[in-house]
Amino acid sequence: MADALHIPDGFLWGGATADFQCEGGFGEGGRGLLTRDFETDGNQEQPRQITLKMPDGSRTSVNSSFFMCEPFPEGAVPTIYDDCYYPSHQAVDFYHHRREDIDYMAEMGYGVYRFSITWSRIFPLGDEEKPNEEGLEFYEDVVDYLLSKNIQPLITICHDEVPAYLAEKYNGWEDRHVIDCYLKLCRALFERIGSKCKYWLTFNEINAIAGYIATGSPKTDPQTHYTCIHNMFLASAKAVVLGHEMMPGSMFGTMYALSEVYPATCNPDDVFRRMQFRHMSQFFSDVMAQGYYPYYAQDIFRNLGVDQAAFMQESDAEVLAAGPLDYVTFSYYRSAIIHADTELKRLGGDMNNPYLKNSDWGWPIDPVGLRYVMNEVYDRYRKPIFIVENGLGAYDKIEEDGTIDDQYRIDYLRDHLREMAKAICIDGVDCLGYTMWGCFDLVSLSTGEMAKRYGFVYVDMDDKGNGTLERRKKKSFDWFQRVCATNGDSLWQD
Ligand code: BG6
Repeated sequence: MADALHIPDGFLWGGATADFQCEGGFGEGGRGLLTRDFETDGNQEQPRQITLKMPDGSRTSVNSSFFMCEPFPEGAVPTIYDDCYYPSHQAVDFYHHRREDIDYMAEMGYGVYRFSITWSRIFPLGDEEKPNEEGLEFYEDVVDYLLSKNIQPLITICHDEVPAYLAEKYNGWEDRHVIDCYLKLCRALFERIGSKCKYWLTFNEINAIAGYIATGSPKTDPQTHYTCIHNMFLASAKAVVLGHEMMPGSMFGTMYALSEVYPATCNPDDVFRRMQFRHMSQFFSDVMAQGYYPYYAQDIFRNLGVDQAAFMQESDAEVLAAGPLDYVTFSYYRSAIIHADTELKRLGGDMNNPYLKNSDWGWPIDPVGLRYVMNEVYDRYRKPIFIVENGLGAYDKIEEDGTIDDQYRIDYLRDHLREMAKAICIDGVDCLGYTMWGCFDLVSLSTGEMAKRYGFVYVDMDDKGNGTLERRKKKSFDWFQRVCATNGDSLWQD
């Protein structure tokens, strides 16, 4: 048995999901269309597609995936076709199973549940004057039910999506008008559920997003992308100010994907390249946590051919400075290595680390990398951190007796959580909590598959949405229940 490290009391244990991967309820409760609703399923070989209609009525599509989305051909319009499967429409139907799902969370002993708002459920088009009452009622019910079970909500206001109408009318975040639309969404949420919710995230993985799905723009060139991002930075800073005004004591973060951890060797060229690569991601958290553009932004923009003056207005610096984040959150699933000749991108890297084993989906399993990233982020900002996504996507099998023996998931989580405990207890990182990705199984973001399962609770549904949607506990359910009940002490008792 390893020596126990005692995580301070008050640490928040829980789980995390995203609306379009779990909620469903398409066309119900007045929900409008989302950019996500045009994205088909895929798999490890076949990227997801956005289905499009051309001006002459013919069909086409472009690839979309985790952090890549191809630009649209001129005149192409996102269109839903009857013979395609769109996973966001049903997802795993949290919309109708919410109480059951929250009951499972409560049984596990969750102290926090991170979920995201479907923007078009509150503002179906995005630029209406008044919010949709049924949408607000839905989220209020979720929040109230969570609180009745002593689970704190942690709300992602926008998780990689835009109402389709805002995309069509304004090219999404390309247009500053969308900042006002986003703030309207924030105001409606803060008014309705703000007094019950302390923790907020303005955006999900803002350093990873690309193209139509998350920015609403059909273009992906760097100038357009960083224009959209700049407008999102402004929106986030304004949301922080508004949130603090309307909800004293509230805490605001944004979430970043932070996986590219190591230089390939100690060759100074590898090490320097890794720093440049890391800057591509740190750029986002630097602006948002510190409230100004970092010095190295000029190098990134020069390399990408981005003209910052074209989107930066005079008063913007003041707006950014007024709304820095209160805490910094990130997802961590895997690590990657960077070579001297790795192309500079926001995410990616080489996933063939000879010291690590990979998951069924080729993601290196690296618990120590989590401790590394926790230290890196805390050291950089000296603000509390929150690990809001971590977990193992794996194939699960139901045994003849109906049980699911996901020991591999327990091993992954135990090893990561031990490293997390070391970062907190030995290194002194101030970490508020940990939300495992997908308390219950949900649709994979990158591939659109259901086979890539993360949850403690199995959902009976296949890659095409067939199944009873029945929920059943996996072996890891009881294991995590013990972790929560002992505030992590059980991690050292296996
Ligand atoms: C994170 C996203 O980056 O990765 C989630 O915020 C996503 O939405 C998660 O589900 C895991 O990725 P995937 O592709 O395995 O679902």
